[in-house]
Amino acid sequence: MTKSILISRGLSPEALSIIPKDVNVDLNGHERPLAREELLGRLRGKDGLVCQITDAIDEELLSTPGLKVVSNVAVGYNNIDVAAAKRRGVTITNTPDVLTDTTADFAWALLMAAARRVTEADRYARSGAWKSWKWDLLWGLDVHGKTLGVLGFGRIGRAVARRALGFDMRVLYHDVARSTPEIERELKATFVDKDTLLREADFVSLHVLLSQDTRHLIDERALRSMKKTAVLVNAARGPIVDEAALVRALSEQWIAAAGLDVFEEEPTIHPGLLPLANVVMAPHIASASFDTRLAMSTLAVKNCLAVIEGKPALTPIT
Ligand code: GLV
Repeated sequence: MTKSILISRGLSPEALSIIPKDVNVDLNGHERPLAREELLGRLRGKDGLVCQITDAIDEELLSTPGLKVVSNVAVGYNNIDVAAAKRRGVTITNTPDVLTDTTADFAWALLMAAARRVTEADRYARSGAWKSWKWDLLWGLDVHGKTLGVLGFGRIGRAVARRALGFDMRVLYHDVARSTPEIERELKATFVDKDTLLREADFVSLHVLLSQDTRHLIDERALRSMKKTAVLVNAARGPIVDEAALVRALSEQWIAAAGLDVFEEEPTIHPGLLPLANVVMAPHIASASFDTRLAMSTLAVKNCLAVIEGKPALTPIT
């Protein structure tokens, strides 16, 4: 019987080109995500769905008769009700590994930009205000030799820590489980509790999954416990940080600066962040390099094809 898949939003043409001709493809070629009712309607009769983090995949969608697989084009999968998928026997897949280094690079881009005021400097250079070299212009914070705190020591957290070796940094990390002695040695990373990490780090970079346990992990109490000179970096998920508390922290200088790729109510950004000079912001693009977005879409398509052909997924969520 002919297989059919729904692709909820555009993907790299190279990834689409690996879909065999005998598989029916229903592709949303528009810029916008499908509205829920449209997604529900177009999913009917499909064996697989390739979706993105803007698609909220709940139990009703997962109950679509015949649906075998939901393949998320992202490593994070908080947009999918994984427990409901298990109940319904639908395989969920994500795109780990292929985006680890690209995402870690971008966390570092935010860290460096926030510490050394790169976006402020860019705006100043363009403004015409620069009349002569100035001794006290745009002083920032050193990165080398400082302490990096990595909250969440999975693949991306470890890749962020690895980059700190080149900056002679002391690395502290925290996660629900301690890493192995080999990894700690290789990355020169020390396991500490969350409070110690927040208290001692000059740079705090977030790399936990979003769950009920990590929602507002960085709240007012956490922000107040950080150094006044600290920089917070979030390239994980927006709701891990209480954005209203962060606005107060940045406005009232409880901490020095922040670099944010993700926000609580994307694509809405808390209006209090917009006028602040001590925050560098990006529209959720940490994995957005040409090579990585191609690798993510190809992996997502391969996952979907494998399951509809009765084979194991390459990277299932277990
Ligand atoms: C992007 O946010 C991802 O989870 O891959």
